[in-house]
Amino acid sequence: MIIAIDGPAASGKGTLGKRLAAHYHFRHLDTGLIYRAVAKAMLDAGADLADEARAAILAAELDPAAFGDPILKTQQVGEAASVVSAHHKVRAALLTFQRNFAAGPPGAVLDGRDIGTVICPDAQVKIFVVADPAVRAHRRTLEMRARGEQADEAVVLADILKRDERDRNRAAAPLKAAPDAYLLDNSQLDIESGVRAAIDIVEAVRAGRPRD
Ligand code: C5P
Repeated sequence: MIIAIDGPAASGKGTLGKRLAAHYHFRHLDTGLIYRAVAKAMLDAGADLADEARAAILAAELDPAAFGDPILKTQQVGEAASVVSAHHKVRAALLTFQRNFAAGPPGAVLDGRDIGTVICPDAQVKIFVVADPAVRAHRRTLEMRARGEQADEAVVLADILKRDERDRNRAAAPLKAAPDAYLLDNSQLDIESGVRAAIDIVEAVRAGRPRD
C-alpha cells in the first residue's frame, strides 16, 4: 500500500507521515528533504538558484545518506528549496528515486507537495493536510526554538505564506490536492488526534467504506 500525504509548509505532514509509517510498519520518505538537499548543494556550490541545468545535475548526483543533515531543516534551506523545486528538470531528475521508494515492500508513506498528483497518482490513500497559517507558524516557531534556532513568529508566518504562494502557483507540479484526496484540517487537533484521524481514513479505505 502507498499512502500519499501532501500539504503546505509546516502543516504537520512530516510528523503525520512518520507516525503513520510507524503504525503500519511501512517505510517513510519526507520528499521535502530531497528538494532541501538539492538546495543545500546549490548553496554550497555558490550556484545561482535560478540555474536550472546546474540544479538538475546536482539533483541527479544526490546521495540519500545526506538527507539526515540537520542543516536541511533550516528556514534558509527551506526557502531555497522552494526556488529550486520549481525547476522542471530538477523534478524530473528526482521522479524515479521517489517512485522506486514508493514501490518497495511492504508499503510506503511519502509526504510532499505532489505525491498524490504526480509521483504516486495511483496511491491507495491520499491525504491533503491543511492548517491555518497562524497555527502553522506558531508550531514551526516552537519547533525551531526547540532546535536552538532563533525564530520570530511573524517572520516565520511571512516565510510560510511566501513559500505556499510560490509552491501553489508554479507551473511544475504545483501544490494542490488530488481530486481523490481526503482533506485533513488539523488546525484544532493535537498530534495524537491528527494521527488518529488519518488512521481512520486509511482504515476506511482499506475496508472499502466511503467517507466524506
Ligand atoms: O516540506 P518541506 O517544507 O520540507 O519542503 C521544502 C520545499 O520543497 C517546499 O517549499 C517545496 O517547494 C519543495 N517540495 C516540493 N515537492 C515536494 C516536497 C517539497 O516542491 N514533494
